[in-house]
Amino acid sequence: MTAPTTRFDALLLPGMDRAVGHARRWLRDVLGREHPCLDDAALCMSELLTNALRYTESGRAGQIRVEVTYSARTVRIEVIDDGRAATTPHVAEAGELDVTGRGLRIVASIARDWGTELRGKGRAVWFEL
Ligand SMILES: Nc1ncnc2c1ncn2[C@@H]1O[C@H](COP(=O)(O)OP(=O)(O)OP(=O)(O)O)[C@@H](O)[C@H]1O
Ligand SMILES: [Mg+2]
Repeated sequence: MTAPTTRFDALLLPGMDRAVGHARRWLRDVLGREHPCLDDAALCMSELLTNALRYTESGRAGQIRVEVTYSARTVRIEVIDDGRAATTPHVAEAGELDVTGRGLRIVASIARDWGTELRGKGRAVWFEL
């Protein structure tokens, strides 16, 4: 059996709200509209990008690096922020009426696996589908 072809791509984004839409369009171009993981990958990536903007130095005139490793059936995405956050990424206990605290819960429920690791002065949050 031959191993499936694995490809890699990366994108450097300015730490601005419009980066999220830009990254979604980029991901669609990289994976192709027909990729079976495109919708889930775009959803999870958007949550990680929003967190990077909201909680880390990336959103204070910083930047975000997105790395995608993919095959015809799988996707792994890493979102690397600029760090200096007051918190660490965690699955929050969101009550029924809470309007926040759901992003990483969604990622954890959709992804096959996810996690975080320190990367340079920032942090990588990753997931695999
Ligand atoms: N990149 C990050 N760096 C530091 N802390 C983070 C990062 N991402 C998330 N967190 C922390 O983890 C918590 C949970 O994140 P999550 O995305 O699940 O919820 P939220 O951002 O509070 O709300 P929602 O995503 O529903 O709008 C955040 O409140 C924040 O404290
Ligand atoms: Mg969030």
